[in-house]
Amino acid sequence: MKRLIFLLLLALPFSIMVGCQQSGSETADLKARIDSLQNRLNSSYTPGTGALMNTIVQPHHIKLWFAGQNKNWALAEYERQEVMGGFEKVQKYHKNKPEATAVAMIFPAMDAIEKSIQAKDEKAFKNNFVLLTNTCNTCHQALKFGFNVIKVPTKNSFDDQSF
Ligand code: HEC
Repeated sequence: MKRLIFLLLLALPFSIMVGCQQSGSETADLKARIDSLQNRLNSSYTPGTGALMNTIVQPHHIKLWFAGQNKNWALAEYERQEVMGGFEKVQKYHKNKPEATAVAMIFPAMDAIEKSIQAKDEKAFKNNFVLLTNTCNTCHQALKFGFNVIKVPTKNSFDDQSF
């Protein structure tokens, strides 16, 4: 019995060593996986603020106007949410840039639009859409993109959609 215990004690350091080696290779494996995820992150495409404005905010701003003009309140509410989604993406993906902080200035105008949609109030909708559009420009000016002027649309550039 004593001999057996002695042999077991003798074998103990070896089994610890093998265990350490195993966890060493697990660490290397994890490191490789983290490196490959980091590489993927570094090369992933994040649309810039200009792209978010162009592809989300601007088209839905136009559609919002024509939906409201046609008293299509369900569509107007949908478009309002899409515009909002664009601003939320600016906040989410450009956290450390000045535009992320500035986004808050558009919320009162967006809230006012929401209320006029809920009330199906055509006149309030028009006034609040002008307020919204002015606030687009206030932000552009504040961030030194004042040459980028937004206006209430006069022509519908989405001719294939029924408003
Ligand atoms: C938080 C501030 C902010 C608000 C609010 C804002 N924008 Fe912008 N917008 C910017 C910035 C900054 C740029 C320039 C980004 C760049 O090019 O890097 C920009 C660029 C644009 C562009 C790009 C123009 C081009 O020629 O590529 C359009 C269009 C635009 N905005 C539309 C709008 C509309 C419509 C609204 C209101 C519904 C709005 N923006 C509200 C900050 C804002």
